[in-house]
Formats: sequence, structure tokens, C-alpha cells
Amino acid sequence: MLKIQVSVGDPLVLERDALIVAVAEDEGQFKGIAAKVDKKFNGQLKKLREWGEVKGKLGEVTVVHTLGLMPPRRIVLVGLGKRDELDAEKIRRAVGSAVKALNKIGCKHVALALDNFSNGEIASETLGRAIAEAAILASYQYRQKSGDEEKPTLELLELITPNRRLALEVEKGVQLGTILANATNFARNLVNAPASEMTPNTLAEQAKSVAAKWGLKCEVYDEQWIEQVGMGALRAVSLGSDQPPRFIVMRYEGAEGAPAIGLVGKGITFDAGGLCLKTAEGMLEMKGDMAGAAAVIAAMDAIAQLKPKVNVIACVPATENMPSGKAFKPGDILQTLAGKTVEVVNTDAEGRLILADAIAYAKQQGASPILDAATLTGAAIIALGPFCTGAFGNDEKLVQEVIEAGKEAGEPIWAMPMLPDYRELIKSDFADIKNTGGRPGGAITAAWFIGEFVGDTPWVHLDIAPTFWSDKDSHYLSKGATGVMVRTFVQFVLRQSNR
Ligand code: BES
Ligand code: MN
Ligand code: ZN
Repeated sequence: MLKIQVSVGDPLVLERDALIVAVAEDEGQFKGIAAKVDKKFNGQLKKLREWGEVKGKLGEVTVVHTLGLMPPRRIVLVGLGKRDELDAEKIRRAVGSAVKALNKIGCKHVALALDNFSNGEIASETLGRAIAEAAILASYQYRQKSGDEEKPTLELLELITPNRRLALEVEKGVQLGTILANATNFARNLVNAPASEMTPNTLAEQAKSVAAKWGLKCEVYDEQWIEQVGMGALRAVSLGSDQPPRFIVMRYEGAEGAPAIGLVGKGITFDAGGLCLKTAEGMLEMKGDMAGAAAVIAAMDAIAQLKPKVNVIACVPATENMPSGKAFKPGDILQTLAGKTVEVVNTDAEGRLILADAIAYAKQQGASPILDAATLTGAAIIALGPFCTGAFGNDEKLVQEVIEAGKEAGEPIWAMPMLPDYRELIKSDFADIKNTGGRPGGAITAAWFIGEFVGDTPWVHLDIAPTFWSDKDSHYLSKGATGVMVRTFVQFVLRQSNR
């Protein structure tokens, strides 16, 4: 695992595999540490800038071997974009791109000169956090390959600051960023693992081992319990599968007597669609239909380490959604834990069913507010494209607060309209509610369905279908699971603790 250290000194005297140096786009000449490096190159490095080889565009990476002219073996010039537009996300993208390049070359011990990264407006703690997050996230790969080609090689990244006071602040950020990024990578592992490995029971084992590591309470309930307590919706979805369902509860206690923040995550470990079977293409990413659950479990891992003064209860309904002779069927009417009946119109709209029971359980346990994350609808992907998570809720201030937490965490979230008109679309002739409302506004009717089980509890639903998966490697993302919402959940919880 990549380690990140902060130290005080002159980065140009260190014998390392590489030294990362930032350059901005709008600066005519090399500044600060970049100018010092140029001097060691007898002024020759400037030519790269003059020739337009180094423009300083965001994420541009230029590796120059130093050929014995100075102790670091390579200088890695990384573009920041325009300096006055610099923010934490741009720093993450720049550092992510540099770290990806270094891992490809095979560098192990790398230094990074901090001074050129700031523009005076970004707090040192924010800077340290962004760099640590980016380096750890960018080094992530999920591979089950026989050889070790293209494996990340970076072991140590040293952030070099000119003075001790700065170093202490940067260090604080690095500690937080390291916890957040490692938790995010943990969520990515859970999501990227093939569905035949990451079954409901395996997911529960993962939650248990997180809990055991930090002394959290963790309860894992089986199919008999699920049936007995009356989680008829979760039970129905699980019927077609040979893998038994699980209901996972984790508790973090940091504030005696206060109500717990409820985190609920959709844990469909494989979504074949049930009898309303998906196409082969539509099924490929469905090992990741437990990305909401992964975010919740991984957030608990980070929260347990950060010890905020709040209580948090995590609820994860975990099951496969498979077709078989035992599977639940369109037309079935389900009895939910909350007491409401649901007409099943489409067995592929299973996420909202299991969330209905999980949210009812969280409410019984006194959770408030409740946040849920779910890879819920293809409609959210159509609405938002791959760059934004959709937010829905029954409390505008809470929605704004979650969006704000997402901003601070570097995970864009956009509020979606919850007009009561959409509620009409899921009225059922035979039951209290039906589980789909047609294609138009599909993400919103799905949210309304969940809202029906939330009641008056302040609640935000995060549809992460748009953002849980990346189709390609870029900056600090690698192809596959993104681990989205881990950082937002933790940020939200920290905000509640600091009030
Ligand atoms: N897990 C899917 C949604 C999904 C699709 C997530 C693609 C990520 C990528 C969900 O269970 C589902 O199948 N939703 C249906 C609902 C429809 C039947 C009303 C959908 O969006 O098509
Ligand atoms: Mn489905
Ligand atoms: Zn699903």
C-alpha cells in the first residue's frame, strides 16, 4: 500500500526515482521550484516551454530524465491548468495523472515539491488531503492477471514543504485524505469483485471484518430472520437466487443518547433482472449493483477511524436478483416491513423493493436523518451522464447539505425535482403502490417509491447509477468501480459532528 509522508527541506537534494514539479498554464516562464530545476539543467529546460512541449495544461505530464545533473533521477512536470482557476479537484486530477505515469515507468520512491501546487487560496490542509487522495486513488487497480506487468510500483510519496508550520497543516490533510482514499479503494474492491465471489454472505463477512477491525457493532441476519420480521420485499427479490440473502447492520457510537444518522446502501450483488431478465449487455456491470452497499460499509470503515461525535447506523439489504422457478413474479403483491403492499410490475425494479424494507428498519431503529445510496435507475444515467450523482429527498435543506458535503469531498451531486405529480405515476389498482412508473422520469418515480417508506424522517436518496462505474482510466479513476459516495458520506457525518 502506498505511503505518504510530509517532510521539510529542499526537494532538489533528494535521491529519489522522481521529483514531481507543478507548472501552471498561464505562466510564461517556469516559476519557483521549476525555475530552480531549470537552472540545474543549465537553462535548457526552458526550451520545452518555448517549443510548446510543456504547456501546463491540466493533467499534462512530461517526464525528463536528469542524467546525473541532480540527485532526483527524473523530473516529472505536471500541468495544473490556469493558476487562478486552481481548486482541490484540479490538484487531484493533476496529481492523479502524474502518479499514473510514474506507476507505468516503475518508480518506487518519489518526492513532490509542494510550493508550486498552491495559489495562496487553497488551505494547506486541503492541499495535503487532495494530494494524498489523488495519489492513493490513482494507484488503484483491480486485476486478477497471472503476470505482474502493469502493476503499480509506487511505495512512498514524500511531500516536501519549505517550512515546518506548513508541514504540520499538510500532514493533517494527508492523514484524512489517506483514510478517505483507502476506504474508497476498499469500496472499489467490493464492487469490482465478480458477483460469484461477492455474494450476499461474502459482503456480510466483509462488513463483519470492518467492524471487528475497529470495534464497531455488527449484526448479520439470515433468510429466516428476514422472513420472520416481515421484510417481504427483500425476501421476494431473494427467492430466485440460490444464494441466501443477508441483512447487515453496523453501528458506530460516538455520541451517547443522540439519534443515529442512517446510511442505507443497495446491496444487489448481482442484478440479472429476475424474470424480467436483462440483456447480456445490460447485465455486464450488474456485479456492481451493490455499489451503494459498498459505499456504506467503506464509509463506516473511515468513520470508525475518524471518531466523530455522532452515532451512525448502517443498513444493507443484500441479495441477488435472479430468474428461476422460485423467483418472484410480475403481478405479485408483496407485504413490506412498513406494512404497505406493493404490486410488482417489473422484477427488474428490485432495488427500490429492498430499500423499502431497509429504510423501514432504519426508522424502527430511530435513525434520523436517513441517507441512501443506490445504483437505482438507468433513467438517472440518461438524465445526468457520467459526471453527477442524482439527489432526491423530502427536505430541501438536507438535500443542499448533502450536495455541499459532496462538493467538499470532490463528488458532484445534482438535485432532481420531486414534484408531487410524479407520485401519481406509481399508483396501483391492486396494492398501496406499484414498483415502476414507466420510462419517463424513471429516476424520480423510483425516488418517490422509496419516499413512500420514509415518511416524515428527513431523507436524501442518492442515485449513483450514473457515477458508480468508470468506462475508462482517467486522472485518479481507473476503469471499473469508482467507489463513489464513500467520501461524501464521511464528509456529511464529519459536518454533523462539527456542528
Ligand atoms: N440496477 C439497475 C439500474 C442500473 C442500470 C444501474 C444500469 C446501473 C447501470 C436497476 O435495478 C434496474 O434494473 N432498473 C430498471 C428499472 C426499470 C425496470 C423501471 C432500469 O433502470 O431500467
Ligand atoms: Mn434491476
Ligand atoms: Zn438493480
